[in-house]
Amino acid sequence: MTLALESSCDDTAVAILEGQRTIRSSVISSQIDSHSPFGGVVPEFASRMHLEAVLPLLDRALLEAGISDPKRDIDLLAVTSGPGLMGSLLVGVMAMKGLAQGWGKPILGVNHLEGHIFANVVNHPDLDPPFLAMIVSGGHTEVVLVKELGDYRVIGETRDDAAGEAYDKVAKLLGLGYPGGPIIDKLALTGNERAFDFPVPLRSSEKVEFSFSGLKTSVLSQVEKLRKNGQPLPLEDLCASFQRAVAQSLVSKLHIAVSLTGVRKVAVSGGVGANSYLRKKLLTQTAWKAYLPDPFYCTDNGVMIAGAAYHGWNRGRRSDLELSPSPSWRI
Ligand code: KG4
Ligand code: ZN
Repeated sequence: MTLALESSCDDTAVAILEGQRTIRSSVISSQIDSHSPFGGVVPEFASRMHLEAVLPLLDRALLEAGISDPKRDIDLLAVTSGPGLMGSLLVGVMAMKGLAQGWGKPILGVNHLEGHIFANVVNHPDLDPPFLAMIVSGGHTEVVLVKELGDYRVIGETRDDAAGEAYDKVAKLLGLGYPGGPIIDKLALTGNERAFDFPVPLRSSEKVEFSFSGLKTSVLSQVEKLRKNGQPLPLEDLCASFQRAVAQSLVSKLHIAVSLTGVRKVAVSGGVGANSYLRKKLLTQTAWKAYLPDPFYCTDNGVMIAGAAYHGWNRGRRSDLELSPSPSWRI
């Protein structure tokens, strides 16, 4: 069994995976309430809260999995060692190194982005490579060609903000709170997506590349115009129109990626993959078969790290007690 810890940003998550995909437990301690007054993650708070959460969470995961003797039942310890916030990663890596030493078990450092890809691998037994993975999270927007599990080629990424970052910034400028994605998703349900004609980023580019900072600025200009005219903000319409532009960008670039590679399986994950509007758009395209994890496994979780570690270990990847965080590790 693989015991995995994820602490790269503002969620502390632990999971225990039996083999490739039997989830014995998956627990999360979210820090959202502490960060939301600041409209984003405060790194110093994040590491302190990981420190407080990690041991009780490990206990809970073992309890939920019915494991009373982890030294006997756990074969591999996995931990996100990058990319992410230095202080947050450090807490996770140190905690798992301590366990590895105490229990005499091997430890494996996992790339968080590979983890997001494995959210789909764990959830979909029929998802065999080659496939295209689109990671859309708070820190990343990338399209990766998965030739084999472990053999990745980034074929496109964002020039500036990540998609989730755009959701969070737009929510902040609308005064909606943090994280913005789920709030905008909900408000947009009753909005008119054609109320505002926000520009679809890099619409005329034939490359697989993204950009979301200009879109955020367009929303800001619109909001300022409405405020100047003394008009109330039609929040639902603004959210729906913004969301439409984000989804159009993601879907149209995926079409380009599919035609460039000839690969017609598309696996989307990362927090924005939980977006109900995007999920509908992805699932109704005929150019590909879309794979999406349950919304819970789109956002950061321990299961995806355990899945990536299990495969990595079986492919021969190894770490040791010299493991240290790599905050800017690329896939
Ligand atoms: O993957 P994730 O949990 O953490 C990172 O690795 O960054 O993604 C978090 C991001 C946040 O920006 C959040 O606003 C966004 O995912 N998000 C959503 C939704 N749920 C979370 N964005 C759009 N719609 C959602 N339902
Ligand atoms: Zn993530």
